[in-house]
Parts: sequence; structure tokens; C-alpha cells
Amino acid sequence: MCGIVGSIHHQNVVPTLLQGLSNIEYRGYDSAGISVLTPRGIKTLKRSGKLEHLRNLLDSQQLSGFCGIGHTRWATHGEPNERNAHPHSNDQVSVVHNGIIENHSQLRQWLQAEGFSFNSQTDTEVIPHLIAYYLARGYSPQKSLNAALANLKGSFALGVLFDQDQQHIYAARRGSPLVLGFGEGNVSLGSDAMALNINDDRILYLEEGDQARISLNSIKLVDNNGKAVQRKQRKNEIRHEHCSKQNHRFYMHKEILQQPDTIAQTLNHTQQQLTELVLDFSKISRLNIIACGTSYYAAMVAKYWFEQQAGLCVDIDTASEFRYRGAPLDQNSLTIVISQSGETADTLAALKHVRTQGCKTLAIVNVIASSIAREAHFSLQTQAGPEIGVASTKAFTAQLSTLACIVLKAAKERQLLDADNSASLMDELQQLPTQIQQVIAIEPELQALGESLSDSRDAYFIGRGCSFPIAMEGALKLKEISYIHAEGFSAGELKHGPIALIEENTPVFVIAPADAWLDKTLSNMQEVSARSGRCIMLGDQHSLTTLNIEQCQAPPEVVLLPCSSALTSPILYVVALQLIAYYAALSKGSDVDQPRNLAKSVTVE
Ligand code: AGP
Repeated sequence: MCGIVGSIHHQNVVPTLLQGLSNIEYRGYDSAGISVLTPRGIKTLKRSGKLEHLRNLLDSQQLSGFCGIGHTRWATHGEPNERNAHPHSNDQVSVVHNGIIENHSQLRQWLQAEGFSFNSQTDTEVIPHLIAYYLARGYSPQKSLNAALANLKGSFALGVLFDQDQQHIYAARRGSPLVLGFGEGNVSLGSDAMALNINDDRILYLEEGDQARISLNSIKLVDNNGKAVQRKQRKNEIRHEHCSKQNHRFYMHKEILQQPDTIAQTLNHTQQQLTELVLDFSKISRLNIIACGTSYYAAMVAKYWFEQQAGLCVDIDTASEFRYRGAPLDQNSLTIVISQSGETADTLAALKHVRTQGCKTLAIVNVIASSIAREAHFSLQTQAGPEIGVASTKAFTAQLSTLACIVLKAAKERQLLDADNSASLMDELQQLPTQIQQVIAIEPELQALGESLSDSRDAYFIGRGCSFPIAMEGALKLKEISYIHAEGFSAGELKHGPIALIEENTPVFVIAPADAWLDKTLSNMQEVSARSGRCIMLGDQHSLTTLNIEQCQAPPEVVLLPCSSALTSPILYVVALQLIAYYAALSKGSDVDQPRNLAKSVTVE
């Protein structure tokens, strides 16, 4: 949620901090600020609202220094205003924080009794005062930070500056992600790799409980017990083109159009990773698949695939429910967690819970070395590349591509699929990049459909089988970026209640590929048109033939998509729904990449 940046540089560090903040705007925020060490003490500037306001303030103030920290805030405690914006500082210390300090009110009362006065309503502000409390008792910066951290309950990733130490940035993580970057004449700190200096060619992820003290010439890392440790440095995969919209108005549009490539790369890379995955599905009794939001809809699709292709029983759960449900877990089961960011707090906590039950875990993530990838026994990385638009698009189809490959591996190992059939299903998947090009080719048609929703109050999506989760995802995409009330239903459920919502011209998108559920889906569509709903059918030539549109009293509007199978239709159809949602949002003038109230990576419960 909140975003942290930090940098030590030979030149003025302010431009690097601003670039880092700009690269993590996508996480969602309501205010931003920076602190810089100067010979005249710590200077802190912050503004509520868009980063532009802070940039203008900095231009007017001409602030400079060689060592600094910055922050984009996502309000949890205290209103989204300048007073509550980070960094939170006093004369000796300045702190940026991502996470939640659960015992902040007790600490605040105690510190007020010790004579500290508070400027903000935030939980974070207890940290600089706690540190100052120990500095006042002669503790060194490192020791005062250790002592302060020992008082904190909750989750945190911290960047800390000390006025009395002009050479170092101090950092600590417990529960929230933190990564360091190293490049020519620069060391940086960030909540994720996007926050780092783009010229940093090596990165290092802090493990749970780690603390770091970094300067241009040295990095001192200690673990949870204060023991000096080394952490693995990796190549920084983030490149300039990842951070730019190129010629697109929004990152979301760029990312939708990248899918032919990202799916091709993910299919090839996953097949490679699966040859090294030491997991035999013939020994697995059942699957639990756990995720949140769009990733959960990937889990819903995978349930159909694993049950039908691999004969595996599958339980699926949203992570926030699973972690407190206390479900008994079968020791021979495998738990798959799915996450684009690899940092979603609920999914990470559910994963940790499953590990404590002694069950095997496999993570499917889009961010290598993310907390979830490092926590799981096994992890597979999708090749969607950095996804910046808050609305997940290419990461979702990459997740489905990876899951489809795992399903084929499982079906083979469970003797339900022979090599020939597996090869032909793999061929079908390899057709997807070309087929998605065909969907993108009808973008003008999908644009018109999206724009036709601009005055709609509600919109519904229905589907059966593995098109049901795609109906859910279509509804999520529309509501999260256009703010039109949208819901997805299993088409068969419509007549058990939701059909009461259908009025004259209520738009209902019917996901109807020519699969085993087509006839039933078309009759559900008839139920809608019988109540004068506006039916928009997404289907292929076979669906159209089956519909026999000439015979329809109220023929639906039709979006003709390439022919597909149960393994490919979810991936193909969702791209059309992503473009419809994108153009509906554009027609409503919403900030498509940073929709209100949403964050790209939800790192708090
Ligand atoms: C989807 O568009 C949303 N951004 C959100 O539902 C997201 O899928 C959810 O927060 C899960 O994120 P993750 O995949 O990074 O864990």
C-alpha cells in the first residue's frame, strides 16, 4: 500500500527520490513526502494529493542533499492530509513506514507522558519519538533503532535517517517488503524493485526481521537475532521500458496489448520451470488454491481444469477467509497460492498458516523473490513483466497460462492424459498469442461497446463452467476502473434471485464459448432478453450457429471471438472484457491506472 524509497548518491539525491516515488505511484496513494540530510539538519517536505504538488514544492524550495528517504502514503490511520503524510520527523530522526503499528495508541500515551508532542494522527509517528527517547539516553543510532523496534507490535518496512549520522540510511522489515538496489555511485531502498534507481543493476531483498545500515561504501545486514547475515544479490530485471507508458495513454492499455507476448513467454518459461519442479501430482490427494481478487478468479478457473483434466479434488478460498477458517488440511494435499505482487498480506498469511500445518505449498507469482515466493516450498514465476495498472490484466492471463501447464503435468502424472493428447492441448495453448491478436484486432468494436456503458448504472456478467469465473473477472474489471456497479453470476444462478435486477436495457454480458455449457448458457440468456435486458453475447462461430440468431425474438448483440476450448476460452474471452472495461472507464473520465480507493499491492490485512 504505502510506498517507500531511499537513496544515497554522489550528486543531489532529490531527483532520484522523486523518480522513485513516481515509479511507485501505481501502488495508489493520497500524499507524498521526502526527507533529506543536509548540513543544517534533516529537511522534510510533504504534500497531500498527487506527486505533482510535492514536485512543485521541491522546485520552489531547491532542497538538496546526498542522502534521503521518501514515501507515498495510503491512509490507514488518520485522514489523507499533509499533517499525516510521511516522512514523520523530529529534530534527530525522520521515518518512512509501510505497514501498521498495532500498539500505537499505548505507545503514544506513554511517549506523551514522557513529554513528546505529536503532530499527526498516524500510527507511524510513535517511531521517530521512540527512537529519540533512546537517543536521549545515550544510545547509538543503531541501538536506539533496535530498542524502538523491540517495542513495536504489527507490521513494518522502515526507512530511517539520523541527523547525527549523515552517511547512512537505516532500514528494517517485519511483515512488509523491502528491497535494496546497487548501482554506479548509488545505493537505494524501496518497497519493491520499481522504487529503486533504474540504473541499479543489482538488487537484494531483505528477509523477514532483517535490518540494514547502508552507505555508499558499505552495507551491514543483521537478521532478527541481530546476527550479521549475507543476502543473495540478484540481477535487477526492471528496465526503462517497464516504467514508461510508451505511446499508450494508460499503463492498463499497454499491458492489455502486451498479452500475446507475455502469454507466449509465460508458456515457454513455465514449461521450463516445470521440468525442474520436484513435485509429483500422482502423490497428491487434493488441492487447495488460495488467493485474493483477480488472482482468486484464476483459482476458480483452475478448479474446473484440475477436476476435469487431472481428476484432482480442489478447494478454493479467498485468503482473508481461509486464514481464519481453521480448515483441517490433508497432509498429502498441495496448497497453491496465486499472487501477482507476491506481497498481498492475506495471501502471505494464509501461506504461512498452511506451512505451520506441515503441508506442501506452491506459489505462482509475477514478482520473483517476493515474500510469497520466498515463503513457499516451491514457486513458479509468470512472465507478465512489471504490471503497473492497478487493474490486473496481463498478470491474470499469465497466471491462467501457468496453471494450464501445471494441469497438463498433473493429468499426465495421474495417468489421465497421454503424451499425444497432452501435446495437442499444449499446441492449443501455444495458439493463444495469435488468437489474442485477433481479439485485439476488434478493439474498435469493443471500444464502442465499452463507451455504450457510460450512462449505465449497472451491468451484469454471466457464464457457466470455467466461464463463470471469467464473468466474475469481467465484472471486477468494470467496477474497479469505471465505478459502474457490476456483478458476475453463474448463469444458472440468475433465476434464483439476481434476475430481479434486470430492467429494460440492463446490459448483461453473456460469456458463451462453444463448450459443454453452451446450450444452458443460451437458455439463460433467453431468460434475460425475455425481461428486455440488453444481451451482449461473447461467443464463437459455433455459438452463433447454435444460437440460430434469425429465430431469436430479441437477438443479442454479438462479439465474435476465435473458436476455443475449455482450456483456452477463459484466457481469450477475458481480454475482450478487459478492453470493454477499459473504454467504459475512459468514457467516464476515471483515472484508469490509479482508480480511487484501490492499491496495486495490498500489504496490510
Ligand atoms: C485486480 O485488478 C486488483 N488489483 C486486485 O483484486 C488484486 O487482484 C488483488 O489485490 C490480489 O493481488 P495479488 O495478485 O498481487 O495478490
